[in-house]
Amino acid sequence: MTKTILTGDRPTGKLHLGHYVGSLRRRVQLQEAGGYDRMFVFMADVQALTDNAENPEKIRQNIIEVALDYLAAGLDPQKCTLFIQSQIPELCELTTYLMNLVTVSRLQRNPTVKTEIKMRNFEANIPVGFFCYPVSQAADITLFKSTIVPVGEDQEPMLEQTRELVRKFNSVYGEVLVEPNIMLPENKAAMRLPGTDGKAKMSKSLGNCIYLSDSADEVWQKVRQMYTDPQHLSVNDPGHVEGNTVFTYLDAFSCDEDFAEFWPDYANLQEVKDHYTRGGLGDMKCKKFLNSVLNKMLQPMRLRRKELEKDIPEIYNILKKGTAEAREVAMATMEEVRHAMRIDYFNDVELIRQQSERFKAE
Ligand code: TRP
Repeated sequence: MTKTILTGDRPTGKLHLGHYVGSLRRRVQLQEAGGYDRMFVFMADVQALTDNAENPEKIRQNIIEVALDYLAAGLDPQKCTLFIQSQIPELCELTTYLMNLVTVSRLQRNPTVKTEIKMRNFEANIPVGFFCYPVSQAADITLFKSTIVPVGEDQEPMLEQTRELVRKFNSVYGEVLVEPNIMLPENKAAMRLPGTDGKAKMSKSLGNCIYLSDSADEVWQKVRQMYTDPQHLSVNDPGHVEGNTVFTYLDAFSCDEDFAEFWPDYANLQEVKDHYTRGGLGDMKCKKFLNSVLNKMLQPMRLRRKELEKDIPEIYNILKKGTAEAREVAMATMEEVRHAMRIDYFNDVELIRQQSERFKAE
């Protein structure tokens, strides 16, 4: 079976560590591992507009930021097609048809949509486009016949909804669309990275992000102020590692080699955790180590980003080329969809012949 990987992000801001650990790092690994037929990564600007309709400039400005983050993190346009969602009109077309195959009450039960409606205080004023974005997301996934969708766990309801739509479409019109599988982050700490303030999620609106493009100085300022254990007042107090953001980050980002390189007093994270829990290990030492670990990871991205920023027109060119490639695939699937849905009138010589026979006979 063809193996097609597809995933995307809403371009509402620069990408942060939550994006990296939750999906971007995995995408780069997948890209490098090979063993797939095609890989697509796209900027979901259509989806971003569903709750930013009055703020299009924000989306426009962030396309380039996200593109730079993608390329700096290691996505390679030779191996993976990068494109912009709004430039593929076939996506809107497929969305329209899929909308006929799902009910309002089914969309209302989508847990991600439910949470987002609360978060945005939409309640009685939910934009229809926003309400329907799971259908549009199903179109994103199915138009490219994606089989593997690497995303965070918050996207699970979207994938479930997509699979339902595929089954419905195929049972009504015939086997055209392909059921995708979600690929979740492998490590639990990576599932949902908390913000630097210890709040549940790293999010721009909460101001608790470390961005991939932050300078070494900015990263240190943020790490220095990071939420730890409020009961760990003096070094000798026993500390808690559960719910301690510094340790959550170390779980997500550090490896044994980092200890050899930056903190040879300990062989691995478990030893540090044990010491911290016993008491006698200060927050500052842990933060300094975390800072070294993060910078080791971020420094190559920073340097690559600086290089890429020197030729911005080339970045738009990469996106334009990727979009043209993606569109070819999109057009091919839409031909099949229109044929299956019996709306390929002008391509169907047989239809025209039959109809003329029918009217002759009458
Ligand atoms: N909903 C995803 C997010 O908020 C973005 C997205 C849109 C997406 N379409 C997609 C992800 C298709 C994977 C596949 O991050």
